[in-house]
Amino acid sequence: MLKVNQLEFAYGEVNVLREVNLHVPPQSIVCLMGRNGVGKTTLMLNILGLYAPRAGSIEFAGEDVTNLSAHKRVRNGMAYVPQGRHIFPRLTVEENLRTGLAARGDRSKVVPEEVFEYFPVLKAMRNRLGGNLSGGQQQQLSIGRALVTDPRLLILDEPTEGIQPNIITLIGETLKRLVHEKGLTVLIVEQYLDFVRTFSHRFLVMNRGTIVAGDETTNLHEDLVKEYLHV
Ligand SMILES: Nc1ncnc2c1ncn2[C@@H]1O[C@H](COP(=O)(O)OP(=O)(O)O)[C@@H](O)[C@H]1O
Ligand SMILES: [Mg+2]
Repeated sequence: MLKVNQLEFAYGEVNVLREVNLHVPPQSIVCLMGRNGVGKTTLMLNILGLYAPRAGSIEFAGEDVTNLSAHKRVRNGMAYVPQGRHIFPRLTVEENLRTGLAARGDRSKVVPEEVFEYFPVLKAMRNRLGGNLSGGQQQQLSIGRALVTDPRLLILDEPTEGIQPNIITLIGETLKRLVHEKGLTVLIVEQYLDFVRTFSHRFLVMNRGTIVAGDETTNLHEDLVKEYLHV
C-alpha cells in the first residue's frame, strides 16, 4: 500500500533522513519505532507531502506520489493523526470532526455515523468544546477527524503518548477493527513496546535518519530493543 524508496531529506543544510526504504503491506498495522530525534515525525511529514524530499520516491497504492501535493495525497486516501493531537480547543467535537469533511472528494456535509460507532465517546461529547475533553478523548477525536476523510491509509504519530492504559487498549483495538472491517492500512509511530507487540503485524526501527530493522512483530527480539530503543 505504501512504499518508500531511498528517501533523503534535509532541514536546510542538516540531513535528517538518509536512504530510507520501507514498505507497508495493505491491510496491515505497521509500527515505526526509534528514540527521540531520529527522524520519525520528519519521515511521516515527507510521506504526507508536507515536506519535499531531496531524493528518493514514495509510492502509494501503486502510484508514484512523490510530486503530488499533500492535499492530493489526502484525496487519494492518506490521513494523518499528528503528534500532540492538534484538535481545535475552541470548536466543539462535532465542528472538529466537520473540518475533516473538506478533505473528502465528495461534497458531503455530514460527519459519517460510522465515526461515532468506532468512537462512541465522541457522540456523547458531540457538543462539548474540544479543549474540555480529556487527553484520551482528544486523541479519539483526532483519530475520528482523520476517519471522516474516509482514508485507505491512516498514519498516526505517537497516538499513545500521555494516554491512560485503558484508552491505549481501546485505540489499539479500534485500529484492528478498522483493518478487519474496513480494510484500512495503518502506519503508527509508536514508542510503547507493549502496544507494538499487542497490536502490530510488522515493526520498523529507525536510527539516525534511516531504517535499521523491519520484520514481523513476532521477530521483535530483545537485542534490537536494547540497541535501538532503550535509553
Ligand atoms: N522544523 C525543523 N527544523 C529543523 N530541524 C528540525 C525540525 N524538526 C525537527 N528537526 C530536527 O530533525 C531531527 C528529527 O526530528 P523528528 O523527526 O521530530 O524526530 P522524532 O519524531 O523521531 O523524535 C531532530 O534532530 C530535530 O531536532
Ligand atoms: Mg516525533
